[in-house]
Amino acid sequence: MSQDPMPEQAPQSGPAPSPSGPPARIALTRLTLTEFRCYGQLRIELDPRPVVLTGPNGAGKTNLLEAVSFLSPGRGLRRAPLPEVTRRQAAEGKGWAVAAQLLTPTGEIALGTELEPGEGRRAVKIDGRPAPSQTALGARAPMVWLTPQMDRLFGDAASQRRRFLDRLVYGFHPDHAGQLAAYERAMRDRNRLLKDSPRPDAAWLTALEDAMAAAGAAVAAARRELVARLRGAESLMVDGPFPRADLAIDGRIEAWLDDRPAVDAEEAFRRLLCDNRRIDAAAGAATEGPHRSDLSVHHRSKAMPAAQCSTGEQKALLIGIVLANARLLAGERGAPPLLLLDEVAAHLDGTRRAALYEEILALGAQAWMTGTDTALFASLGDRARHFGVDDARVTEQNG
Ligand SMILES: Nc1ncnc2c1ncn2[C@@H]1O[C@H](COP(=O)(O)OP(=O)(O)OP(=O)(O)O)[C@@H](O)[C@H]1O
Ligand SMILES: [Mg+2]
Repeated sequence: MSQDPMPEQAPQSGPAPSPSGPPARIALTRLTLTEFRCYGQLRIELDPRPVVLTGPNGAGKTNLLEAVSFLSPGRGLRRAPLPEVTRRQAAEGKGWAVAAQLLTPTGEIALGTELEPGEGRRAVKIDGRPAPSQTALGARAPMVWLTPQMDRLFGDAASQRRRFLDRLVYGFHPDHAGQLAAYERAMRDRNRLLKDSPRPDAAWLTALEDAMAAAGAAVAAARRELVARLRGAESLMVDGPFPRADLAIDGRIEAWLDDRPAVDAEEAFRRLLCDNRRIDAAAGAATEGPHRSDLSVHHRSKAMPAAQCSTGEQKALLIGIVLANARLLAGERGAPPLLLLDEVAAHLDGTRRAALYEEILALGAQAWMTGTDTALFASLGDRARHFGVDDARVTEQNG
């Protein structure tokens, strides 16, 4: 296949060179699916190069990205109910499973996750040993995804933008997924207690508010810190193929962190929760907290809120943020995250598409890219692995 290497620019804060020379990587070297959506059994062998998946509609491309997304905490890139993911034709009682070998700067690890029988939960194994929670995946397999549904991210509910931001944070704060889960658990219990009992047990309520304040302050601090670093990220500072974005986080706890130490913000949040008991009981939910925060994004040179930008501009803003995050992580962890880019290439003009590929290659990121048109990926040549996907069959097309 033709190679047409563009003059590669040195990344401003690229992956730390490993002693043997080539940049350190985070990449899947093997992916195995069992009874996963349209796939009965599938195994693909990979190397750190980006992965291109092309084929007709309904072939199984997004399903593969979804399988990879289950190697990180959460419900995957479709946020589907977990039992729905099991192949419809699977034998009774058999649930889906995904396993992978992951190359990291500190060595290769085996990751596995599968639907727990009879439960709406999934179990996680790392190097063959059961992990107590999915949180452990966050730091080991950092990944970020962009899907066609996220074209509406800036006009969507704030919860979608928080989720996007939290995924960016996972790579930097290994305990972020755990703190989020602890916050949400305590909040749910408090909501229930306030709703169900006219005179809730004061000690129990205080314990739940303590837990919310501690985890909530940690969540807010981690989000705020990442937004601040992204704001300073060099690739978001200038208008290039991906426009300069102004990022901010809107949230009461985050704002407190601007002018007081974290312990004081935590204490203020604890007091606020206590003061708000009556209001929250009437509302049936906590009215204040990091579960109400929002990520605000502006197109800098147009001085325009992202939600009012064109579809293409919004996509370019999102890609710019994802790439800036990948650069930051590469500088810090020694390797960029996995990037799952579902149908991203088709919606970019030629210049931006070339810039995206150039950036992915310069970063050394294993980007998983899908599309229906192989021609859009031809310029990647042997610098990527190309697979054809048709009716749940995956065939390599390199060479
Ligand atoms: N649980 C399941 N069992 C069996 N098949 C499923 C299951 N869930 C989804 N599918 C099927 O998987 C097929 C492939 O879906 P996928 O979203 O991966 O396609 P795609 O290649 O990304 O297509 P497009 O180009 O349209 O985005 C679909 O036809 C879908 O109906
Ligand atoms: Mg698809």
